[in-house]
Amino acid sequence: MSTHAEDDVIAPISVEDSPASSPVAPAPNADRAVASRTRAFDTPRLARQFADQGAFLYLEDFLAPEVTAQLIQSAHGLLDEVNRNYLPGHKQGGSVSRHTIDRLAPFIAELYRSKELIGWLEQLSGDKLQLSPADDPHAYALYYYTRAGDHIGWHYDTSYYDGRRYTLLLGVIDESSCRLDYELHTRNPDVPDQPGSVQIPPGGLVFFDGDKLRHRITPAGANEMRVSLTFEYVTDANMRPWRRLISNMKDAIAYFGFRQVFRQMTHRRKDRA
Ligand SMILES: [Fe+2]
Repeated sequence: MSTHAEDDVIAPISVEDSPASSPVAPAPNADRAVASRTRAFDTPRLARQFADQGAFLYLEDFLAPEVTAQLIQSAHGLLDEVNRNYLPGHKQGGSVSRHTIDRLAPFIAELYRSKELIGWLEQLSGDKLQLSPADDPHAYALYYYTRAGDHIGWHYDTSYYDGRRYTLLLGVIDESSCRLDYELHTRNPDVPDQPGSVQIPPGGLVFFDGDKLRHRITPAGANEMRVSLTFEYVTDANMRPWRRLISNMKDAIAYFGFRQVFRQMTHRRKDRA
């Protein structure tokens, strides 16, 4: 049930406000921009906080301003590429997969691969992190909440990989009432569940172990717009074939559409032929 989002009704943006109408800013150096922020943090303290919160961390102000500006520009520029999905009772919204990002917003791919970023996330999680495989559309993706009722219901970012799956959410645009509601410690019988809720401003960060954090995005109101960027890192990129099938079907139906998800597989088959 996916449609193109060209007919999305989005609140008009004045010429002065619109990053898309500004001259295109040159992309910053991802590693340098990340390092400029992370070296100012007390990372061991943040790592303790991450562990104490059951593998969850929220930072209101993470990205360097030039990175946030670049992401906002890309989010506006990719509006025509948004694939919309509606799963009654679970999800309504739009997304742009890594395949489209690779073609049209390569800075995002560079940020995803930033050694500075990955090294810092490794310090937080205590795990050695790997990039998600090339055919995983979640590796990096933009999520759009542009119509009244756009939301994602309660879920975990379940790992279909043999290892853990970490999610990094970066706030890009938030002209909305959407909140990330979450519950910590739900998988730990020794610690009471702890509910929480945050709004992620542009440049804000949420980092968590997908199998441990129960979470949702609350519905957008009328004339609201929210865009978040998600990065996925894994500790073991191997995935058993039957899990691969479940994961691909879920992605095709709930997120990116069959063409995006299975295109990569078709290409691989052709390569082997
Ligand atoms: Fe999620």
